[in-house]
Amino acid sequence: MTENNSDIFVLVDEYDDIKDFLDEVEEKHVEVESALLRLEDAPDSTELLNQVFRALHTIKGDANIFHIDPMVDFAHSVENLVEGLREGEIKYCKQISEIILLSMDRLLFITREVAKNGKVDLGEVPKVIESINLLVQSGEDKIKEYAPLVQAYLSGDPDKIRIAENGGAIEVDEPEETPAPEQQVVQKKQDIDIELVQKTHKKIFVLTETLDPDLQLFRSLGEAVDDSNHRWANRTAFIASIALGTNGVAGTPVDYFQLEAACYMHDIGMGFLPDEIFNKKGKYTNEELKEVQDHVYVGSGLLKRMMGWEPAAEIVEQHHEQFNGSGYPKQLVGEEICDGARIMLICDAFFAMTHSRPDRVNRKSIMRAVAEINASAGSQFCPFWVEQFNKVVKIQLMAGAFKDLEKGE
Ligand SMILES: [Fe+2]
Repeated sequence: MTENNSDIFVLVDEYDDIKDFLDEVEEKHVEVESALLRLEDAPDSTELLNQVFRALHTIKGDANIFHIDPMVDFAHSVENLVEGLREGEIKYCKQISEIILLSMDRLLFITREVAKNGKVDLGEVPKVIESINLLVQSGEDKIKEYAPLVQAYLSGDPDKIRIAENGGAIEVDEPEETPAPEQQVVQKKQDIDIELVQKTHKKIFVLTETLDPDLQLFRSLGEAVDDSNHRWANRTAFIASIALGTNGVAGTPVDYFQLEAACYMHDIGMGFLPDEIFNKKGKYTNEELKEVQDHVYVGSGLLKRMMGWEPAAEIVEQHHEQFNGSGYPKQLVGEEICDGARIMLICDAFFAMTHSRPDRVNRKSIMRAVAEINASAGSQFCPFWVEQFNKVVKIQLMAGAFKDLEKGE
């Protein structure tokens, strides 16, 4: 039986069967992602719309069996949206596709949390359902008005929700021209603020020059690992720019250069893994998993042997620890994890979600990745740092820094 308690529900005696349900939701999630991608080229395809509809109908039916009422209502509202597409009352467009994908992500997230913990905080889900219903009832004419509201609730970002509730669109305008950062030289200093992030946003993923020989060495090591795998192209610069920006908007509580060093060095241990493990697609064996997890000690060990980089070593050693204690290597919890490592975990996840797959099917859009990170604030990720991360993503969206990514390049 399921007990409803405002936005939390707890499964009592069906816990094992829910794992089968999770397998099914995971399968349907992949099917819907694939169908929506193909719909971009064939927006009127009844067959593809039917496939999306059937997937949602299955999820709704299974959620009903498990008495997960909020999930039934959620799947039902998205199903109605797809029905509107099938009936030609709503036209298929990028925004609608994004809403369906974000909803699928959230449905999968809910199922995973329930399968893992027996409960989930539903957050803004009731408002998502309400706003999707409003969108469906209002039809094509009101898409521009209601779609940003649905997207904002699905993103879980309080700022976006506030803007959308006040009737404002989320700004993604081109900013004014700013000097290219590669012509700038950053001197050692302990403060970076939002203006600096904005000044460098035009080519945010190109790192500024550094005069520090240690940092030059660390960067070249990080970039060598990036070069060893085409899926990691420009990874170090991407992660460093988001991590330093996230720290910057909070007033740089983490030493700028220690965090920069950690960004370059955190995954150099991955470069020492055999190719068959580094590129393995299936599940790791226990021995392989241990080998992968030990990568945190390679970068941290090297930093510890160099004078003055102990704080960076600590960040590297802890960069896979999770806020709720489910990370590794020491299962640290909350504030036991240093701030730099809490930032790194978010930035690493953001890169993995937006770049992880060579095909476009399983690569998430910026909005979906941000929504997923926000949904895990307080469990996997530190809520304070997720809030700062949201600000940086917003700045970079305004700067057009993710345009190539969104085009799938
Ligand atoms: Fe790592």
